[in-house]
Amino acid sequence: MFFYRSVLFLSLLFTARSLNQDGLFLQRVKLGLSDPAHSLSSWNERDDTPCNWYGITCDNSTRRVNSVDLSSSELTGPFPNFLCRLPFLTSINLMNNSINSSLTDDIATCKNLESLDLSANLLVGSIPASLSELSNLKLLNLASNNFSGAIPTKFGQFQKLEWISLAGRIPSQFGNLSNLVELWLANCNLVGPIPESLSKLTRLSNLDFSLNRLTGSIPSWLTGLKNIEQIELYENSLSGELPLGFSNLTMLRRFDASTNQLTGTIPIQLAQLELESLNLFENRLVGTLPRGHSKVTKFV
Ligand SMILES: *[C@@H]1O[C@H](CO)[C@@H](O)[C@H](O)[C@H]1NC(C)=O
Ligand SMILES: *[C@@H]1O[C@H](CO)[C@@H](O)[C@H](O)[C@H]1NC(C)=O
Ligand SMILES: *[C@@H]1O[C@H](CO)[C@@H](O)[C@H](O)[C@H]1NC(C)=O
Ligand SMILES: *[C@@H]1O[C@H](CO)[C@@H](O)[C@H](O)[C@H]1NC(C)=O
Ligand SMILES: *[C@@H]1O[C@H](CO)[C@@H](O)[C@H](O)[C@H]1NC(C)=O
Ligand SMILES: *[C@@H]1O[C@H](CO)[C@@H](O)[C@H](O)[C@H]1NC(C)=O
Repeated sequence: MFFYRSVLFLSLLFTARSLNQDGLFLQRVKLGLSDPAHSLSSWNERDDTPCNWYGITCDNSTRRVNSVDLSSSELTGPFPNFLCRLPFLTSINLMNNSINSSLTDDIATCKNLESLDLSANLLVGSIPASLSELSNLKLLNLASNNFSGAIPTKFGQFQKLEWISLAGRIPSQFGNLSNLVELWLANCNLVGPIPESLSKLTRLSNLDFSLNRLTGSIPSWLTGLKNIEQIELYENSLSGELPLGFSNLTMLRRFDASTNQLTGTIPIQLAQLELESLNLFENRLVGTLPRGHSKVTKFV
């Protein structure tokens, strides 16, 4: 009798002092990630529950984990599939880290997910079709990763999806296409900057990046594309000043950077080119074409 009582006592003691199952799974998540900024230093395995850990939210009454937000935490490593062992998890946000694996069909085991934000990571490979099996999913953000391949046809089967972004960046590898004459990427849901590597495309005569969400400045190397005839950058979020040094672009006939967030003045070299059209409206540029010097046919 004494023996059984002490076993019971010890096991109660042990249960009371040990981390619950959600916490144990989160420790496995932590083990799989490289954390140079010590973002997960509060994930202490001696706690009873993970509810006060960085990035973790629990249901107030059941104390079960319902949300994991580790956005912008400088975490590196594969997607932590152990998250999907948390049975009441409805939201995962790993935005802006360096998650660098592929995403497998196991993601469908996160079956109560309502929101999944993995944007701005280094995910590669194909987008798993099984995502569409997450029948409660309302938000899916996979933008700014290195996914390849087609959007799964099963993506027509989401039941509750309200918001989706699969936007990509301009692949820097395009800079290797050294024979390229035309590069049309209009209305492709592109985000991020115009990659430096494109400066190598010196044969380009037509470049169209219009109607995307590109950010950053108009790169100064653009004025080194000496065969360029047409540059379309309208309706993006490009900022900063127009580059100098347009004088070498003697072939240029059309330049459209309207509807961006450009600042500064219009460089005189641009005005002196024999442009058929120059569109710079809806920006924050000051001044107008330098009077008396302009050879531009049509300016708006
Ligand atoms: C849960 O508790 C927190 C902190 O006490 C409170 O701010 C929050 O509103 C509560 N949430 C719900 C859904 O009751
Ligand atoms: C991404 O995370 C880094 C590191 O925490 C932070 O400095 C940066 O501001 C974040 N960027 C965005 C767009 O949130
Ligand atoms: C992903 O990041 C981890 C941690 O930095 C690294 O060890 C691993 O080699 C990376 N994997 C790939 C495929 O780049
Ligand atoms: C992902 O794309 C970025 C930007 O194009 C590139 O710098 C990086 O090397 C790529 N990473 C992988 C793992 O392919
Ligand atoms: C691009 O070209 C460079 C130099 O030739 C090469 O090292 C690199 O692997 C190429 N990148 C791709 C993605 O093909
Ligand atoms: C213009 O061309 C000249 C001669 O090829 C070169 O030295 C100069 O760097 C070029 N300027 C710009 C802004 O590209």
